[in-house]
Amino acid sequence: SGDSGDSEGETYTVATDNNFVPFEFMNEETGEMEGFDIDLIKAIADEAGFNIEIESMKFDGVVAGMQSGRYDIGIAGMTITEERKETIDFSDPYYDAGLMLAVSADNDEIQSEDDLAGKKVGTRSGTTSETYITENHPDAELVTFPGIVEAYMDLESGRLDAVMYDVPNVQYYVANDAEGLKTAGDILQGEQYGIAFPKDSELVEDVNEALQTLIDNGTYDDIYEEWFGE
Ligand code: ARG
Repeated sequence: SGDSGDSEGETYTVATDNNFVPFEFMNEETGEMEGFDIDLIKAIADEAGFNIEIESMKFDGVVAGMQSGRYDIGIAGMTITEERKETIDFSDPYYDAGLMLAVSADNDEIQSEDDLAGKKVGTRSGTTSETYITENHPDAELVTFPGIVEAYMDLESGRLDAVMYDVPNVQYYVANDAEGLKTAGDILQGEQYGIAFPKDSELVEDVNEALQTLIDNGTYDDIYEEWFGE
């Protein structure tokens, strides 16, 4: 289908992160980016009738790329925050997330965020987890990394006591990629992901319309099932 918005037939650049399972990551066999965000933005482009060129980078680069207007669209499990809304625009929310702790499977000292005082807690720089730890756990020792996989690896090797990051990523990593890690405690701070745009982008409306169509016609559920189904 596709409607006849102004974006019809155009090609837009999409900035995404290079490693945030299962939203976006490199399939080493095909050399292509894959994941929930990738499938969703492809379906949105299809529905809205525009073409996309996907470029992956560090998460900070996606945010900066929206602020500078270097890319047309950003999709990277990016939480909609009041602070970011001052400099970039967001679509309607497309995914409910939140934050969660991962610890070593044999750690029974850290049961929840109440046990973080004096502990080394890692996360990725420039994310809502960094802000959350800074604001709520000044007595923890915050260690930030340019990529989350480095943080998980330091947790696996015992250099960190815990990692805090987005629930879906922590759960996916613990279940599929990690060695000897488990989640700890409840979901902290409900968050919602939005597709990002440079401020005042005319694409916001077309993307919101297409997103709603995909939710209504079951395409969104199919993509969700593929990446988060049991
Ligand atoms: N949701 C968090 C934020 O917006 C973390 C996002 C990390 N995303 C990524 N693609 N690495 O700050």
